[in-house]
Amino acid sequence: MGSCNYYLHIVSLLLFLVLGTNDAMPKPEEFKTYIVHMDHSLRPPSFLTHESWHRATLRSLSEPVDDEKMLLYSYNHVMHGFSARLTPSQVSEIKKSPAHIATREEASGKLFTTHTPEFLGLRHSSGLWNLSSFGEGVIIGMIDSGVWPESESFSAKGMPPIPARWKGKCHNATIPFPCNRKLIGAQVFIKGSQAANMTDPRDDTPRDFLGHGTHTSSTAGGNYVPEASEFGYAKGTARGLAPRSHLAMYKVSTGGLVLESDVLAAMDQAIADGVDIMSLSLGFEQTPYFQDVIAIASLSAIQKGIVVVCAAGNDGAPNTTHNSAPWITTVGAGTLDRSFIATVTLGNNQTFEGKSHFPERVLIVDTPLYYGKGDKRICNMGALNMSEVFETVLICDNSEKISIYDQAMELERVGAVAGILIEDGTPFDVDELSIPGLVLNASSGALIKKYAIEAANEANVSIMRFGLTSFGKKPAPQVADFSSRGPDPIDPNILKPDIIAPGVQVLAAFPPTIPVGEIVNYPLASDYALLSGTSMSTPHVAGVAALLKAVHPEWSPAAVRSALMTTADTIDNNGTTLTNELTNLPGTPLDYGAGHINPNKAMDPGLIYDIDWQGYVDFLCGLHYNDTEMRAILRQSKWNCSQEGTDLNYPSFVAMFSNKTSPPKVKKFTRVVTNVGDDQSVYQAVAELPSGMSVTVEPSTLTFTNKYQKQSYVVTVEINGKASPVTYGYLKWIDQTNHVVTSPIVVLNF
Ligand SMILES: *[C@@H]1O[C@H](CO)[C@@H](O)[C@H](O)[C@H]1NC(C)=O
Ligand SMILES: *[C@@H]1O[C@H](CO)[C@@H](O)[C@H](O)[C@H]1NC(C)=O
Ligand SMILES: *[C@@H]1O[C@H](CO)[C@@H](O)[C@H](O)[C@H]1NC(C)=O
Ligand SMILES: *[C@@H]1O[C@H](CO)[C@@H](O)[C@H](O)[C@H]1NC(C)=O
Ligand SMILES: *[C@@H]1O[C@H](CO)[C@@H](O)[C@H](O)[C@H]1NC(C)=O
Ligand SMILES: *[C@@H]1O[C@H](CO)[C@@H](O)[C@H](O)[C@H]1NC(C)=O
Ligand SMILES: *[C@@H]1O[C@H](CO)[C@@H](O)[C@H](O)[C@H]1NC(C)=O
Ligand SMILES: *[C@@H]1O[C@H](CO)[C@@H](O)[C@H](O)[C@H]1NC(C)=O
Ligand SMILES: *[C@@H]1O[C@H](CO)[C@@H](O)[C@H](O)[C@H]1NC(C)=O
Ligand SMILES: *[C@@H]1O[C@H](CO)[C@@H](O)[C@H](O)[C@H]1NC(C)=O
Ligand SMILES: *[C@@H]1O[C@H](CO)[C@@H](O)[C@H](O)[C@H]1NC(C)=O
Ligand SMILES: *[C@@H]1O[C@H](CO)[C@@H](O)[C@H](O)[C@H]1NC(C)=O
Repeated sequence: MGSCNYYLHIVSLLLFLVLGTNDAMPKPEEFKTYIVHMDHSLRPPSFLTHESWHRATLRSLSEPVDDEKMLLYSYNHVMHGFSARLTPSQVSEIKKSPAHIATREEASGKLFTTHTPEFLGLRHSSGLWNLSSFGEGVIIGMIDSGVWPESESFSAKGMPPIPARWKGKCHNATIPFPCNRKLIGAQVFIKGSQAANMTDPRDDTPRDFLGHGTHTSSTAGGNYVPEASEFGYAKGTARGLAPRSHLAMYKVSTGGLVLESDVLAAMDQAIADGVDIMSLSLGFEQTPYFQDVIAIASLSAIQKGIVVVCAAGNDGAPNTTHNSAPWITTVGAGTLDRSFIATVTLGNNQTFEGKSHFPERVLIVDTPLYYGKGDKRICNMGALNMSEVFETVLICDNSEKISIYDQAMELERVGAVAGILIEDGTPFDVDELSIPGLVLNASSGALIKKYAIEAANEANVSIMRFGLTSFGKKPAPQVADFSSRGPDPIDPNILKPDIIAPGVQVLAAFPPTIPVGEIVNYPLASDYALLSGTSMSTPHVAGVAALLKAVHPEWSPAAVRSALMTTADTIDNNGTTLTNELTNLPGTPLDYGAGHINPNKAMDPGLIYDIDWQGYVDFLCGLHYNDTEMRAILRQSKWNCSQEGTDLNYPSFVAMFSNKTSPPKVKKFTRVVTNVGDDQSVYQAVAELPSGMSVTVEPSTLTFTNKYQKQSYVVTVEINGKASPVTYGYLKWIDQTNHVVTSPIVVLNF
């Protein structure tokens, strides 16, 4: 079980370290501003206020702090704790207090918007954000690991009142859980986990001790937070996709594992409470729908008009999609156009830019540059001589294709200050660099080696800077390497995933108590973290669904999904078909479904493919489940299978053939589209097809005279000649005002 849990990128980072000074004399310790998180529940009762307790904490240090001068703020709402001017030794002492949660040095920065919403084309003054008032009035239910409510992303600042129809509540045990207009519900469903001894006593709170639920919730509906960043990278205003929506947390996971009983209970409560959207960044092994608790619970939710958005999983291989029932919106992951970089300036003033992921406060100045001879240019295990390279910046040759991780281990072993690694054409992950360093491309690498050889013993690095972000990386988006691919193992006739959304190195809120990285024994905490996974892409879609619900409250869950799918992008920012990360090879709809989400276009899709309750019943009838199985999923003793054989009115097409059948291979589909654009509109069918595939559409013109009018059509897909295992094309309905309603047509020959 739990194979579709999320994909956490644990990164190794180095913080607070200024390298390259060789001063032997101990300097008097410097005072810096630290943000100190304290557990207010541990405040001794003798202190009437948190502030008096904070002051006393500072006065009681062995080197007492003049609290009048050094305490900057005592916080009660934005966080629990205080900010103060302190020395590193004083910080160490505070950390020994049982009430201490986390401390970090204050960072300075400039406004530089954090990127996901802009990458998706959302803008303040126009489009979906504007029309939806940022999701105002919509409630998103998160089924996840809990939430860290003190994060600024869940502040109620500027939030409208809680909708009167809301019936949810906040966990109210010994310590009431601090809900507000943003976070309007927080409940715990861990009886199943408790029974399996998977919890400890502190888990009985909606508080997130994992970080996952905090991250996903703030992605879907987080409030505005200026200058959020993880160690300097991705600086800017962090906010959710629907920053004025309300959030409710249903905690089901305490340590990353989830149990079916808990997930069912949570979804049950979310339906009762009145959420509009449910977001699940979790899943179980793929099983037939009647055994799949998420499929079962989602069908009930859909019946009540709730949009259910689920992660497709992180299996990265074909035939591995999870949460793929056709009433669920199933989400894969794509990359962003953002890269994290560092620069190195050599003694000769030449500057090079490389990939990195090190904290901005690491600064390396005036340090010798080492480039050995022969085997000592290759940083494989044991190759380097510590007494030759200790406290230098090392260049590692790339001739033997040693992994970044192994090179970093060797650099760490010999006590290098930093490493300059060189790309060798194989995919790599800069997060594996466990000491400061950067990865240069081959041409920059050649220049830096030339300098090192020419300058010989004089070779040096004048400065290395970290914590820089660059935008506009091409190509983007790409389908994330880890994103689960179709065909769907349960029903390959339904194209899954439905859509992809940003899921690689997404910046969102994180509990300040949980290290996002660790160097040697030095855990690093941050209020915001970059995480990757379909767990991260799912709340993007949940947030956009909330925006769509705010603009079109009457749309059914199928209509919302249809709008997302038929307007998705299949072309990247370099003008070519979406490619796969790492291989850079062109993808297919089995990788990206209908494409990459485009929120502004989804607002005005022109036509939608709607599906009502009976549509799903007909679909289930066609699967020939027996009565027991049907009752399990439909929760009723009677249903009507008289329409069995009706096509599910899905916005994508899959035609499956056995490769033993000789051509021509023909399949017909019937679809019904609803006009949600102008009253008067005329759509023409246009097919974009590979050779060997032909499509006829009957009728090929659809004329509408009213909004919400329905029209049906029949598509006949034909494969001639020898077909490859996967071929695909697109059917587009185009009207006079440039609505383009696109559906992928995938032909499988297995
Ligand atoms: C939407 O845009 C209009 C005009 O640009 C502006 O007056 C209005 O305040 C915007 N609404 C929101 C919610 O931002
Ligand atoms: C929590 O429960 C206590 C005792 O039942 C009650 O007095 C209090 O009002 C509750 N608080 C909230 C926020 O529901
Ligand atoms: C959980 O722990 C209790 C007490 O140690 C034990 O009796 C019980 O069998 C355990 N349950 C499971 C499912 O391991
Ligand atoms: C650093 O490198 C430059 C250029 O190679 C050289 O002129 C300078 O002397 C070097 N500095 C040291 C301290 O070696
Ligand atoms: C490098 O640049 C600095 C100022 O930009 C200048 O003072 C120095 O002479 C330059 N050094 C070399 C080796 O070009
Ligand atoms: C290598 O990186 C540098 C940036 O330092 C860039 O200017 C150059 O175009 C890159 N070369 C190639 C071949 O990508
Ligand atoms: C490492 O370098 C030092 C100094 O150059 C030398 O004395 C020693 O023999 C070297 N060790 C090895 C294992 O090569
Ligand atoms: C962009 O597309 C062109 C061809 O259209 C291709 O040659 C080039 O390699 C692409 N660039 C990237 C970064 O993929
Ligand atoms: C897909 O996976 C399922 C099990 O998850 C397996 O039964 C089926 O044969 C697989 N299909 C293909 C085409 O590999
Ligand atoms: C339906 O199939 C299940 C196996 O999935 C079986 O256990 C059950 O007895 C069947 N029920 C009926 C009414 O045939
Ligand atoms: C089942 O559906 C068909 C077609 O919509 C309808 O004619 C029939 O009356 C329905 N039967 C029942 C029992 O509802
Ligand atoms: C059909 O597919 C199977 C399994 O992929 C393969 O072994 C076989 O060669 C294919 N047959 C034809 C006629 O392509």
